[in-house]
Amino acid sequence: MKVTVVGAGGNVGSTVALTIAQRDFAKEVVMVDIEKKDGDKTFYPSKGRALDQWESSPIHGFDTKLNGTVDYEDTKGSDVCVVTAGVPRRPGMSRDDLLEINAKIVNSVTTELVKYSPDTNIIVVSNPLDVMTYVAHAASGLDSTKVMGMAGILDTARYRSFLATELEVSPKDIQALLMGGHGDTMVPLPRFTTVSGIPVTQLIDEKKLDAIVERTKKGGGEIVGLMGTSAWYAPGAAAAQMVEAIMLDQNRIFPCAVQLNGEYGIEDLFLGVPVKLGHGGVKEIIEVDLDEKEQDLLNESADAVRSTLEDFKKLMNQ
Ligand code: NAI
Ligand code: 2OP
Repeated sequence: MKVTVVGAGGNVGSTVALTIAQRDFAKEVVMVDIEKKDGDKTFYPSKGRALDQWESSPIHGFDTKLNGTVDYEDTKGSDVCVVTAGVPRRPGMSRDDLLEINAKIVNSVTTELVKYSPDTNIIVVSNPLDVMTYVAHAASGLDSTKVMGMAGILDTARYRSFLATELEVSPKDIQALLMGGHGDTMVPLPRFTTVSGIPVTQLIDEKKLDAIVERTKKGGGEIVGLMGTSAWYAPGAAAAQMVEAIMLDQNRIFPCAVQLNGEYGIEDLFLGVPVKLGHGGVKEIIEVDLDEKEQDLLNESADAVRSTLEDFKKLMNQ
């Protein structure tokens, strides 16, 4: 029961690690990051964050050991690896602006990870998410059922939390589905949104629901606008939920970025769709019946991801 988080000296990665530790289902979380130089000083953010978090174990009451490192040998035998390494968005940047720099980072960390854990599951968080998942899959040589991207759980959580605020109900009672790429073309699906089984369309007028759908699509940018950098609490919790589903073989149904081979009429693209997650990774891609408008929106989102993927391929050929 060993998990590795790469980029764990940063915000999302350290939140993934702490969330896993607080849930106390893993024996060890290895937190990898690079060393940082400042003048003649060298800092080790992953070691520092791991130690700080481990020092909270008596207070939180967990046994999961947190070990910070810069050495991939310490990741040997990891059941699940989470890749959060890379650069986050700053104000005025889109996720796609991170393409070139993050592709290099994701490619190199994935290569290191599979050297020491050749049969691991990889959950990618770095942006632009859908294309970075493609990059990790290509670099890993793993079966596509073992490589997936985290975005849908976060985007759905944003949608559910906005609905909970508007309806003045518990977020726990809101179930929702969202598909597509992790960008402004993502597709929240009101027809598949319920409050304890009650269709949300019976509880909220269309205009308010449309506004919530729009706010969800721009949810990442809203946080960047407030903080000057991108979110980490909800993204970290979302990635940890995927780790838990795989390690405890929970068969949870989540929207995740996975490779589509004809499902939803989409070929050879990593895109967010509902999947069954459990031991070994993606056990099943679930195809729900979309109406024409929903399918058009999903196709539009797939086109946006495909265009970023083409940009990535052009960069590789330069
Ligand atoms: P951050 O800057 O706080 O952390 C990133 C960490 O990656 C840094 O500590 C950095 O040293 C490390 N890193 C860079 N190159 C590395 C390498 N070669 N090997 C190991 N570590 C390396 O950034 P933050 O906020 O944690 O975001 C991380 C990534 O996650 C960004 O690309 C961001 O856009 C993405 N993100 C994705 C979300 C999603 O829903 N998929 C949500 C939130 C963020
Ligand atoms: C988010 O949605 C930027 O992808 C990041 O918060």
